[in-house]
Amino acid sequence: MIDGLPPGPRMPVSLQTLAMRTRQRPFFERQRRRYGSMFSMRIHGLGPIVALSDPELIKETFKADPTVLHAGTASPLREMLGPNSLLGIDEGQHMEQRRLLLPPFKGQRMKQYEPIIAEIAAADIESWPQETEFPVARPMQRITLRAILRALFGAEGEHLHALEDLIPRWTALGPRVALSPWIRRDLGPRSPWGAFVRRRAELDAILDELIALAKADPALEQRVDVLALMVQARHDDGSPMSNAEIRDELATMIVAGHETTAHSLSWTVERLRRHPQVLRRLAEEADEGGKALREATIREVLRARPVVSFAVRYTRKPFELGDHRLPVGTRILLAAILTHYDPRLFPHPDRFDPDRFLGATPDTYSWIPFGGGVRRCIGASFAQMEMDVVLRVMLQQLELLPSSEPEEQPSFRGIVWVPSEGGRLVMRRRTPAPEPAPARTPAAALA
Ligand code: HEM
Repeated sequence: MIDGLPPGPRMPVSLQTLAMRTRQRPFFERQRRRYGSMFSMRIHGLGPIVALSDPELIKETFKADPTVLHAGTASPLREMLGPNSLLGIDEGQHMEQRRLLLPPFKGQRMKQYEPIIAEIAAADIESWPQETEFPVARPMQRITLRAILRALFGAEGEHLHALEDLIPRWTALGPRVALSPWIRRDLGPRSPWGAFVRRRAELDAILDELIALAKADPALEQRVDVLALMVQARHDDGSPMSNAEIRDELATMIVAGHETTAHSLSWTVERLRRHPQVLRRLAEEADEGGKALREATIREVLRARPVVSFAVRYTRKPFELGDHRLPVGTRILLAAILTHYDPRLFPHPDRFDPDRFLGATPDTYSWIPFGGGVRRCIGASFAQMEMDVVLRVMLQQLELLPSSEPEEQPSFRGIVWVPSEGGRLVMRRRTPAPEPAPARTPAAALA
């Protein structure tokens, strides 16, 4: 057992930092070829970092004792989302909040959300321009935000519109404040952090109204949205969740669930337009009422273009991994961007090939777009259901036209990797299927 970090590149910190933010995948792959499946890096302002790409090491890390490996308290998201956010807490507090939040995200619940998402997608698609190229990212952001607000928050009417106006202005500031800890100082409403904090206060005021409405709702017990379930949830000691806790979790869902799903959908459009054969098969399948290929396609998009390129853990105690005992304060990156492109795990990884997942369940420790272990994304089923429904509605209503343009490149937006051109789409509306001819009646024949 070697005490300390595994070897890694000796380039200056500034170059490693730049490579990490601009050319992450080639940079990581070069280090893996040179140093193997566990290597160190040095990134500006972040202390020691180790990246992993071996499924066995990933499994050990995901399964490690949560008192040894933290994920929340050292995360930059903690300050942005509040002290109760699931993304910013650890150990007992994390396990308890997670237990309160999980029930509405269980797979069986997803069926109940499907009609709402289909309605939201169909309504938005009506406004898309025909036979004109446009980036699909904006509409996808609208759809996924509305999906969270209606299906998970139970927001309607005035509250829905106020939140739809406010949230994009709040989250737009996110990447800047997330990446640059030194600007997290309130220097008035015009400073980035000052504006962020003020918009968060506006958001909290609307969320408090929604919580009050839920508490007064005589039909609360029949509701299926997450807000209604949080209002009814009880801590281990029998006490209800406080408004501050509920607000932080709702803000967390917005940040964790809105852009991630929107950009995964934009990547879906980007990939499919460059793979007309898959597109044709998907359209046929949708017309016949099937979904196996669509599900496989979504898994393949999440493999080939993971919007979150790695999950992170922080060592709170020395942690033995492979041949190394990693010191306290090491950041471990569980790199989807590496495992997803390892030819031993996914043959011909550069090929976009949904058939690799047809009828096959992805491996828990090599297909990791949603992270893993006790921190695995709680919205994973929701996100995949949402992607499935939005893609189905698109295939039924639109003909997506293939593109021979070069691929869009991944571009970093503070939290997620998005298509550089926003996922450009050209489409035609499909003419509705002809109505079956009415049966000829004697009266009709005489008319
Ligand atoms: C395609 C869409 C999405 C992707 C790629 C994604 C990815 C991730 C990843 C990589 C993590 C970290 C897991 C880890 O550390 O092991 C995570 C955590 C989380 N995600 Fe997602 N996510 C998506 C959608 C959603 C949605 C729709 C929601 C909720 C509405 C959501 C809520 C959360 C929460 C609350 C956590 C923190 C879990 C914890 O720390 O216990 N995500 N997500």
